[in-house]
Amino acid sequence: MLAKKPIPFLDLVLSISEATDLVDRELNNHNKRVAFTSLGIAENFGLSNNFKYNLIIAGLLHDIGSFSLRERRETLSYDYQPKHNTDNHSYIGYILLKDFNPLAEIAPIIRYHHHFWKDIEDLELPETIKLSTQIIQMADRLDVLIDKNKEVLGQVEEICRIIKKGNPVQNQIQTRHCRRDNKFKK
Ligand SMILES: [Fe+2]
Ligand SMILES: [Fe+2]
Repeated sequence: MLAKKPIPFLDLVLSISEATDLVDRELNNHNKRVAFTSLGIAENFGLSNNFKYNLIIAGLLHDIGSFSLRERRETLSYDYQPKHNTDNHSYIGYILLKDFNPLAEIAPIIRYHHHFWKDIEDLELPETIKLSTQIIQMADRLDVLIDKNKEVLGQVEEICRIIKKGNPVQNQIQTRHCRRDNKFKK
């Protein structure tokens, strides 16, 4: 009989994350890319290690509530916004995680990850959750804008032009991130 070994937490999260992306070839590593880009944005803000750790976990699991190929494909459109407050993958992901202690803290981030900042600023959420949500939303939208069949740096200018149309707070994040990308380009 196989001995029961505890699964390391990060291994568990990565396994769920990869399984979630297996729903469609187009999504290959989407969750990982969102986690990685979110970390890049957070580093521009000098945020704490604990904040960044939670952000990575939230990025890896942000689409955990999406079981349908149709919905995953819909979210690949830059302008995607859930039509209902509860009948969508963000809310289902929140329901899945909110009562599971190790992941309960990131559940609200997943719930609102397709909302723009202006839509959540009046909600009673801690500031760290609001900022995390906005960063995940930004990283998620950046990922759908990148054409995976082309060289990435050649797309920076056009992507920055598109995302700078966002609201002022979103712009602050976007401008910082675009500035970093441009610096990297030189
Ligand atoms: Fe999503
Ligand atoms: Fe996503």
